[in-house]
Amino acid sequence: MPDPLSAPVTVPAVRAAKRRDGHLPLVMVTAYDAPGARIADAAGVDLILVGDSVANNVLGYEDTLQVTVEDMAHHVAAVARAKPRPLIVADLPWMSYHLDVVDTVRNGATLVRAGAQAVKLEGGSNRVPMVEALLAAEIPVMGHLGLTPQSVHTMGGYKVQGKSDDAAHSLVVDAEALAAAGCFAVVVEGVPEGVGAAITGAVGVPTIGIGAGPACDGQVLVLHDLLGINPTTPRFVRRYAELGAEAVAAVAAYAADVRSGRFPADAEVYH
Ligand code: KIV
Repeated sequence: MPDPLSAPVTVPAVRAAKRRDGHLPLVMVTAYDAPGARIADAAGVDLILVGDSVANNVLGYEDTLQVTVEDMAHHVAAVARAKPRPLIVADLPWMSYHLDVVDTVRNGATLVRAGAQAVKLEGGSNRVPMVEALLAAEIPVMGHLGLTPQSVHTMGGYKVQGKSDDAAHSLVVDAEALAAAGCFAVVVEGVPEGVGAAITGAVGVPTIGIGAGPACDGQVLVLHDLLGINPTTPRFVRRYAELGAEAVAAVAAYAADVRSGRFPADAEVYH
């Protein structure tokens, strides 16, 4: 059995980590701050995604369309200050790579200066000029296909994508275009497992799945979902803990101790 990627994780190491070439599945998790980055690092994941899902998971927004490059840079910098071993990938938020390539590169550079080692953007063949411009500026790019949350209004909600033969074929073509343009990996979200497998088989760079089945070259989950901090989670999430409920119980115990006079005790007082 091959070893997980060694420290520190680099873009070329991720690019080479295709399962069919004998590599272990890649492990990516989101983190939005220094404590989250330290947890991901200590747990031995390969990549940290500072996702624009910070919008829903931390900032209280309904969707990811509300976060700006400045918001993302703030959270990327917090993650980077933890100096984690995993590769730090930052999401380019909505409207930061949609206008023109100059704007795209400037926004990518802002995230790199904040501490990102690569950026991720959503979309397929339509994003090839942006991918090429970022790479020309030495900014590594991860693609993101399938259920792309920044397209929530176009998709009519968060719906599984690639269900028809035509839609599945388009996703494979898009993945090939992103890989040919130079993306070092592609996130595949919210597609039937056969589509996840077809995309993974079609491209020479790793696919990292989220709700895309077991054939992908890696998996990504949102930290707040897998830790059970979010009260409800989609079907594809496995909740490895129930920290939300544990946190409520801990704060309730503290409140009860204060009100009953049990806190602070003698050992918790400066004499
Ligand atoms: O922002 C995010 O959390 C993501 C993952 C769902 C892949 O893009």
